[in-house]
Amino acid sequence: MDRASIYIEPLNIRARIVKPQPKGLPVINLSFNELPWPPSDAVQLAIDDSASNANLYGNPSCQLLREAIAGKWALNQEQVICGNGSEELLDVIGRVFARTGDEILISEFGYIQFPIVANRVGATLVKAPETGYTTSVDALLDNVSDKTTVVFLANPNNPTGTMIDESELRRLASSLPAKTVLVIDLAYGEFADEDYCGSMHKLVTEFDNVIITQTFSKAYGLAGLRIGWLYAPEWMIPALYAARGMGTANAVAQAAAVAAIEAFESMRSRVKIIVAERERVSRQLSSLGISAVPSSANFVMARLDNGSAVSGGVNSADALAVHLYDDAGILVNQTREAGLEKFIRFSISLPEHNDRLLLSLADFVRH
Ligand SMILES: Cc1ncc(COP(=O)(O)O)c(C=O)c1O
Repeated sequence: MDRASIYIEPLNIRARIVKPQPKGLPVINLSFNELPWPPSDAVQLAIDDSASNANLYGNPSCQLLREAIAGKWALNQEQVICGNGSEELLDVIGRVFARTGDEILISEFGYIQFPIVANRVGATLVKAPETGYTTSVDALLDNVSDKTTVVFLANPNNPTGTMIDESELRRLASSLPAKTVLVIDLAYGEFADEDYCGSMHKLVTEFDNVIITQTFSKAYGLAGLRIGWLYAPEWMIPALYAARGMGTANAVAQAAAVAAIEAFESMRSRVKIIVAERERVSRQLSSLGISAVPSSANFVMARLDNGSAVSGGVNSADALAVHLYDDAGILVNQTREAGLEKFIRFSISLPEHNDRLLLSLADFVRH
């Protein structure tokens, strides 16, 4: 194996659908768990203002954004680090705390970025089995060894959409060895419960080995600008900064995120719409004989109820994904990369997009 290929071989990511939509319909991408609305006026204004100064570097330490985050959630701004999406910060954490010979522990169907990070840093990936597509704290603890330096846990998780409650997270945090860092990825936290993210910040104060990561990509609808943040115990901050690129969080993204925090209520009302739609879509799926894993996020993972994964060599999830694209111009995510061959995952979007999806699903089920 050449040096370069070690980065790509373990991932085995297959191509997505790239052909033109056969009916000429506009394509609706429900495969990235994005928010369907463009920035609100106030956020757009901040973007435009900042973009007009694009000749200038952004503040390397994201001073104003860290102040806004710390002010909003009563945090210590010195413990906040912003980055180029939370994806960058997960990578930074991996580089600081895991090396060849170390183990990174994740839940069986954990977020795809976690194996990617383990692969990049040369650590051994260990997966703990799930129960009902949900993280099992007991299974995670059973798989901790003296080599485990990082546990990555997305809660809610992508692609399953499931989550464990705060008491289970506390049990995990308090049972891990002191040298094992627990990373709780809250990318979808705002869709779970209004107060959930705030309650998670307390874990960082209580446990010296817990980091939380958050993003402006999902509930705040700024995915394209790439801005996320972490909250970590003070002792970790210098090392995390040292591993992060100097100016990775760009000026426009910083300004937009500050404005998005100021427009907090607008985020909340959008999240409410998505959550209501998620529940409506989930109900309709079951009436179509499609089983949806109960989701706490802005997407749903589902499969045909007969579970007919492979019939005549054709995976029904593959066939369904192709049907949704050909029939309705809808792109869904195929979760096979996470080991979930039989499922598809789709973002919850505007009611009219969700209806288009449901209609096309019904058509697939009928034939
Ligand atoms: C669980 C989870 N964490 C983190 C991310 C990364 O988000 P971003 O880099 O846009 O902040 C995603 C994106 O899909 C995600 O699903």
